[in-house]
Amino acid sequence: MIKNLLKYNTNFMSAAKVGKYGFTKAELLSLAKILPKLNQKLAKKISSTNFSFRQLPYEQKMVKEIDQLANKLKKRFQSLVVVGIGGSDLGARAIYQALAGDYGCCLLSQKAMAVYFLGDTTDPRPVADLLEIIDLKKTVFYVVSKSGDTIEPLTNFLYLREQVVKKVGLKKHKEHFIITTNDKQGGLLQIAKKEGYLILPHAEIGGRYSVLSVNGLLPAAWAGFNIKQILAGAKAMDTVCKNDKYLKNLPFLFAALQFLAYKKRQQNISVIMPYTYYLRDFGFWAKQLLGESLGKAKRGFTPIAALGPTDQHSQMQLYIQGPYDKIITFIQVLKLENLKVPKYNNSELAYLGGHKFSEILNIEHKATAVSLMKNKRPNGTIILPELNEYYLGQLFFFFEMATVYLGELFRVNVFDQPGVEQSKKYMYGLLGRKGFEKYKKEINRY
Ligand code: PA5
Repeated sequence: MIKNLLKYNTNFMSAAKVGKYGFTKAELLSLAKILPKLNQKLAKKISSTNFSFRQLPYEQKMVKEIDQLANKLKKRFQSLVVVGIGGSDLGARAIYQALAGDYGCCLLSQKAMAVYFLGDTTDPRPVADLLEIIDLKKTVFYVVSKSGDTIEPLTNFLYLREQVVKKVGLKKHKEHFIITTNDKQGGLLQIAKKEGYLILPHAEIGGRYSVLSVNGLLPAAWAGFNIKQILAGAKAMDTVCKNDKYLKNLPFLFAALQFLAYKKRQQNISVIMPYTYYLRDFGFWAKQLLGESLGKAKRGFTPIAALGPTDQHSQMQLYIQGPYDKIITFIQVLKLENLKVPKYNNSELAYLGGHKFSEILNIEHKATAVSLMKNKRPNGTIILPELNEYYLGQLFFFFEMATVYLGELFRVNVFDQPGVEQSKKYMYGLLGRKGFEKYKKEINRY
């Protein structure tokens, strides 16, 4: 029995609550029968490369090395900039926002070390703006690209490299770059070796499953977060996933309900809606994981990253009275900072006085969940007692394993993304990369 586990409330997803738009116990039970076999199958796959993400929670040596490196860097630098895109960026971003917030202060009011994110666009403005606010002499760049050939982060990397060389000189500039890429090929590896940058090899897993590797953990350790606890949370969730009882195995339960909704009721849009501002980037991470892993072979639901309560005033009208094509997953955090609304008596706002902000947030969530249910819109809630490293680790692993279960149910390979290759080839062709001439010709026909 694992103590301190997140919860998953599925009450408002059942047919008993939302009629024909919800799951029946019979259909869930018939799907749940496959869980023991599925778990056996996954256990056998654990030694395969793609599944090595499941080993990450157990990598104690990695934690130690990352913490040591982060401490060393902190003595020398003031800011760390992550340069990456997709799976090489979103996980680190999600951790940083969840624990440091948007203003770089962590929940315990300790100051977190500043982390900036760049590399997910070739829009010139972010890089130009960032260079205005950071001191290059005191900045270390963590460039992450598994392939080492991705245009967006590498465009930024080449520019930043030149700026650092101008500032500190060719000899010294290499101290300012740390690289995570595969250890075999790619433009980034080639330059990193030539320049003598520190290379921390990319784990043998796809980017969107890499948040618990050095990719996500180095920026987190640098920021001052307890990465051991992040992995402890993930480990607890891995234990949950070994359970063959479907009501105990929460990632499987989540996957089964999403799958049934898609298959039986054509609910092909899955909204992920955290009710805390600081899980907004987590929503983007989860959106990539679900979308890129499952959307293939003409299958897969469309994930939407929403945010509560913001989207109560933006999307909720659609969710409540639009087509019956969505299921919604809220993420609720019970314990938040102890801020109270001051009293303003003898006014129409007097009722707000004395309530805690967190109480109001939870009321907003409840009011929305019940309104959706009353309108026959299935919705479930993942409940975190608080937003700390441990529960964040659980949450990441919950979604990773739910995606793996969904892949088995949908019968798709959750680890590839062949659909995005064509546009990359066109881009290489148009930019004049050797070997891609035929794609240039092809795209120029349009
Ligand atoms: O999940 C994935 O593998 C992708 O989304 C990649 O993370 C993304 O395309 C970035 O690729 P790379 O890390 O090779 O730069």
